[in-house]
Amino acid sequence: MQSRPLRFVRPRSAAALAGEEDGAAGFVYPPHWAEPWPSGVELAHAVAADDWHGAAVVDLGCGLGLPSVAAAGAGARVLATDRSPDAVTFAAVNAECTGVVIETAVCRWAEPRPLLERAPWRLVLAADVLYGQECVDELLELLPRLVDDNGEVLLADPQRPLAAEFLAAAQTAWRSVDTAPTRRPEIRLHRLAGPR
Ligand SMILES: C[S@@+](CC[C@H](N)C(=O)[O-])C[C@H]1O[C@@H](n2cnc3c(N)ncnc32)[C@H](O)[C@@H]1O
Repeated sequence: MQSRPLRFVRPRSAAALAGEEDGAAGFVYPPHWAEPWPSGVELAHAVAADDWHGAAVVDLGCGLGLPSVAAAGAGARVLATDRSPDAVTFAAVNAECTGVVIETAVCRWAEPRPLLERAPWRLVLAADVLYGQECVDELLELLPRLVDDNGEVLLADPQRPLAAEFLAAAQTAWRSVDTAPTRRPEIRLHRLAGPR
C-alpha cells in the first residue's frame, strides 16, 4: 500500500522540558513522550504497509503519535492515548501535520476504563513501553482485555531487559505470540493474538 510521508513536530529538547508541569506523566525527566523513539518509527512503518480501512485502532503510550498517524493514514479510526496530556496534544498536532484525523485521550494503563468501554479493538499498537516492571505488569493485565479473537496487538520493542519476561508471560495469556524483525536489528515487532 502506498503510504503518505509522516510529518511531525516535537519539542526541540526533551531535557529542556524539565521545568514543565507534567505530573500526570509521573514526573519522569526528561519526559519519555517527547522523543520519536526508534520503536515508534518502526511500528509506524509496519502499520503503514497494510490497509487498515475502517479498523478501530488504539495506540497505548503514543508519545508523539507516529504509529497512530501511520494507522490513520492507512485508513484506521485511531485513538491515540498516553498518560501525559502534553503527549496527546503533540500526537493530535502531528496528525494535522500529516493531514489525517485521530482522536486522543489521556489514559493510564492502570485506569483503563476509556479503553475498555470501546473494546474490542481490531488493533492495539504499543511502541517501547516495556521499560519498567510496572509497565510490564500493567500491560500484561490490560492487553488481553482490549481485543477478542478478531483483534491483535502489535508491540515494537528495542529488546529492553524486561521484554523477555513480558513475552514469557504473554505465551500463557495468548494463543499466538510471534516475533518479526524490523529494519533496525535491535528492534523486534511482537504480534499477540487470541487472548485466552
Ligand atoms: C518510551 S515512550 C514511547 C513513546 C512512543 N510510543 C514512541 O515510540 O515514540 C513511552 C510512552 O509511554 C507512556 N506511558 C508510560 N507509562 C504509561 C502508563 N502507565 N499509562 C499510559 N502511558 C504511559 C509515556 O508517557 C510515553 O509517552
